Amino acid sequence: MPPPPLEIPGLDGLQRASFHKNGYLVIPNYLSQENLSTLLSETHHLLNEFDISTHPLTRFTTGDSPSDPEHVGDDYFLTSGDKIRFFFEPDAFQPPDPAHPNNPPTLTRAKHLAINKIGHSLHTLSPAFSDITLSPRNAAIAHDLNFRDPRVLQSMIICKQPGIGAAVPPHKDSEFLYTDPPSAVGWWIALQDAGKGNGGLGMWKGSHRRGYVKRRFVRAEGGEGTEFIPWEGTGLASELQEGDDGKGEVYTPRDEDFELLDVKAGDLVLIHGNVLHKSERNTSGQSRFAYTFHVIEGGKGWEYDGRNWLQPTGEEGFTKLFKGDY
Ligand code: FE2
Repeated sequence: MPPPPLEIPGLDGLQRASFHKNGYLVIPNYLSQENLSTLLSETHHLLNEFDISTHPLTRFTTGDSPSDPEHVGDDYFLTSGDKIRFFFEPDAFQPPDPAHPNNPPTLTRAKHLAINKIGHSLHTLSPAFSDITLSPRNAAIAHDLNFRDPRVLQSMIICKQPGIGAAVPPHKDSEFLYTDPPSAVGWWIALQDAGKGNGGLGMWKGSHRRGYVKRRFVRAEGGEGTEFIPWEGTGLASELQEGDDGKGEVYTPRDEDFELLDVKAGDLVLIHGNVLHKSERNTSGQSRFAYTFHVIEGGKGWEYDGRNWLQPTGEEGFTKLFKGDY
């Protein structure tokens, strides 16, 4: 399909230069107030309406907590790539009662305040989120980021619930959605203000230019669960490989490496798949809802890896962003 016509604005030259220099770009007021209220009411609707009686109570864990040493990887998670599913905050449950270890887990709060994230196919199954995602404007942005056949995958609402919204440790998105060579870009849209104290985004400016993919998050051998594995394959996106010495960089992130972004509801942050980023726990009394989806290169010369946790299920593969009906 052809890219969007030039009259649809994507990124200007300064924005493109800033994205390539820093590894991220903030676009203020990307959503209108009307868009925002539509997406927030859809989010509240989803949180209020999901059926907890049949839910496996899967928690979203990232594998860096002593009490939850593994990344989420059960069947409910692994088959969520083409569904809308609900993953709980680990800290939304009562601690297990040692006297009754077989008792079912008990939530400490209402279910709509206990969900960590909703995913991973809002862009195909929720009309409100689909309209915002598969838009001519995003096609124009992807075109200006040099995508040839951009494909959308892994859309989710991240809730960062008040008081318990869990931290997300430093990572690169291409560790999770690996193509060879890496190509992922994240669209991260604040649905509520996000900054200090409520789990705003921390970005390591420029780290994408040296930051190889040195580990990957994959389906475990044998198909059960997930794991991180060391990675020695292509580590940099193709536009970053020129002049590269091929050795990559071993990094040990320090808190001071990360710049905390202070973004407002409706702002868009574009995140390069090789840039290191994280978010802190939400210690505030307010939720911090954000909507994020990812785009990978589906064009010739980029291969989507068969061990990635998220695999395409339909004949068309992941959703095309260039649709030709501008
Ligand atoms: Fe990320």
